Amino acid sequence: MKVLITGGAGFIGSHLAEACLKKGDEVYIIDDFSTGSPDNIRFFQEDERFRDRFFVTEDTILNQDTLLELTGICDVVFHLAAAVGVRYILENPLDAIRINIQGTEKVLEMCSKFKKKVLIASSSEVYGKHLHAPLIETDNIIYGPSSKFRWSYAASKLMDEFTALAYYRTKGLKVIIARLFNTIGPRQTGAYGMVVPRLAEQALKNEDLTVYGDGTQTRTFTDVSDVVRALIALTESEAAVGEVFNVGGTQEITISELAEKIIKATGSSSSVKLIPYNEAYEKDFEDMQRRVPGIEKIRQTVGFEPETDLDSILRRVIDFMAEKMDCVRIEK
Ligand SMILES: NC(=O)c1ccc[n+]([C@@H]2O[C@H](COP(=O)([O-])OP(=O)(O)OC[C@H]3O[C@@H](n4cnc5c(N)ncnc54)[C@H](O)[C@@H]3O)[C@@H](O)[C@H]2O)c1
Repeated sequence: MKVLITGGAGFIGSHLAEACLKKGDEVYIIDDFSTGSPDNIRFFQEDERFRDRFFVTEDTILNQDTLLELTGICDVVFHLAAAVGVRYILENPLDAIRINIQGTEKVLEMCSKFKKKVLIASSSEVYGKHLHAPLIETDNIIYGPSSKFRWSYAASKLMDEFTALAYYRTKGLKVIIARLFNTIGPRQTGAYGMVVPRLAEQALKNEDLTVYGDGTQTRTFTDVSDVVRALIALTESEAAVGEVFNVGGTQEITISELAEKIIKATGSSSSVKLIPYNEAYEKDFEDMQRRVPGIEKIRQTVGFEPETDLDSILRRVIDFMAEKMDCVRIEK
């Protein structure tokens, strides 16, 4: 099988590339390295088991000619490239619209041209400001006004879902939509505000762990290996075509509890420091108070079950961050 992964040098994309290479696929990635890193994929380029089956194109998905060539070669496309994360979007507001909407349209157009199955990585952000849990795929969607740019990421991912479903309905394109909930693991960077690597780094440096808001907001965290397994299973299922699936774990935890767990796991002398949202992000910032996926649909369709518990995932992330920080110290 030949697979194309857009955003393949990113956190999830590089783990997906690794899983596909390990099962014998030929893997093509396109990435502009805006938030991804050459370090995430260097291993596959050097390892003799993989290097003859791993092809990297450094380019933007907005380049139609490159996409045309790569989509033509491959059998299935995992579309992960995106402007990711609330902080990144607040700092680069046009990117959410250009990359996430125009970029996804281009990917879908090329997949439609060559009739290639495509999985679109959407986000739990699309649900908006719900207070209930679990969130299920047919729930309504509730956003704040367009003056609050934090919702533009959610809205852009929602537009991606509409566009993909429109290609499915009008052109018969085989699309699958995966709404990913907080995914964590090695190679994720805290540089764009992702909570676990950010808190882990602070704990390892014995600095205060900065928790935004009052810390009572809850999330679930899923190991990237579980998420990758779900994405591959979805592309292998005919029943998944034309459908939207939540992908995530169900162990709900407040961000304050998460911070305490990280302090304990690192043996750090740090404390938790609450930072009001308007200082962390912008005035009148609105957050999602709870974000827990209902996973009955994906369980029924492909038998997906998250396997890695939170303590084990945190251990993996902390070990990765510690190693990375050691490398930086040695280079200095
Ligand atoms: N990590 C999570 O918890 C999470 C949650 C929900 C949804 N998602 C979705 O999963 C996907 C992957 O996210 P991630 O966490 O791995 O983030 P990431 O930032 O590590 O990966 C995104 C990749 O896309 C690349 N990219 C960005 N713009 C591009 C462009 N114009 N052309 C080519 N490449 C481009 C980046 O360089 C990066 O390598 C994204 O679509 C994201 O919205 C992630």
